[in-house]
Amino acid sequence: MDQGNPRIALVTGANRGIGREIAYQLALKGLKVLIGCRDEDKGRHIVDDLRQEGLAVELQVVDVNDTESVRKMAESVKNQYGRLDILVNNAGVLLDHGVSVLDIEENVIKETFETNYFGALRMIQATVPLMKENRYGRIVNLSSGLGAFEVLKGLLKLKGSSPAYRISKTMLNALTCLVAQDVAEMGIKVNAACPGRVQTDMGRATASKSVVEGVPAPVTVAEGADTAVWLATLDEEGPNGGFFRDRKPANW
Ligand SMILES: NC(=O)c1ccc[n+]([C@@H]2O[C@H](COP(=O)([O-])OP(=O)(O)OC[C@H]3O[C@@H](n4cnc5c(N)ncnc54)[C@H](OP(=O)(O)O)[C@@H]3O)[C@@H](O)[C@H]2O)c1
Repeated sequence: MDQGNPRIALVTGANRGIGREIAYQLALKGLKVLIGCRDEDKGRHIVDDLRQEGLAVELQVVDVNDTESVRKMAESVKNQYGRLDILVNNAGVLLDHGVSVLDIEENVIKETFETNYFGALRMIQATVPLMKENRYGRIVNLSSGLGAFEVLKGLLKLKGSSPAYRISKTMLNALTCLVAQDVAEMGIKVNAACPGRVQTDMGRATASKSVVEGVPAPVTVAEGADTAVWLATLDEEGPNGGFFRDRKPANW
């Protein structure tokens, strides 16, 4: 791919936080970036901002919770570009901060899984066909070390809050492993990234009653986006089916 025919990347939840920064960093590398956003007005605002910096970005409305919205996204990308090269499954929610697994309400678990797990699955199922014809694809799932078994088992002495969020990320990690096996022969790589505790709306919301009580999120958005951007632009020799933090393998 060259300047005249850049790679096309789609980032979900790109209107704020880590997603916006991933989109920005990918666009700075010369990619055409589709700003995935469930709210058209919010997305339009970001697109205007990034275009003012001379970056090649387009709005792509997509609500990952909505099967019809995801189908329309895939149709629109196929009609406009004929392919997709990179998918970053960044959209996520944390609805149960400070809640114990003994008290969590079933609807909160379902709502969390709907976005953090099923949303990513829907996006992968809809976009792999747009990658495999071209025999090139990079998929990055924004996960969390909070979903890793060594943390869930309490080995790191973190409090047992946010059960829906954490299990949704464990499921996302499992999905990463399974998808990796099925796309390996298609020139596609899928990996999961933990950004660390990042200074976003989500990261800040965890500072008050945090799993690391009272400690503000230490990681800047630029640092938090870095591993995902690296995985989104891996060369042929890069890993498939891994979990990474700070560009290094992380424990599942
Ligand atoms: N921040 C951290 O410390 C941290 C740590 C580990 C992992 N992560 C993961 O990194 C990712 C980004 O986190 P963040 O801190 O940037 O979160 P954030 O600031 O809360 O932003 C979340 C983004 O996801 C979007 N979103 C939520 N539900 C959506 C849906 N159904 N369809 C489309 N977009 C949707 C939001 O859109 P709206 O503006 O429309 O709500 C927003 O753009 C998440 O997957 C998160 O779990 C974050």
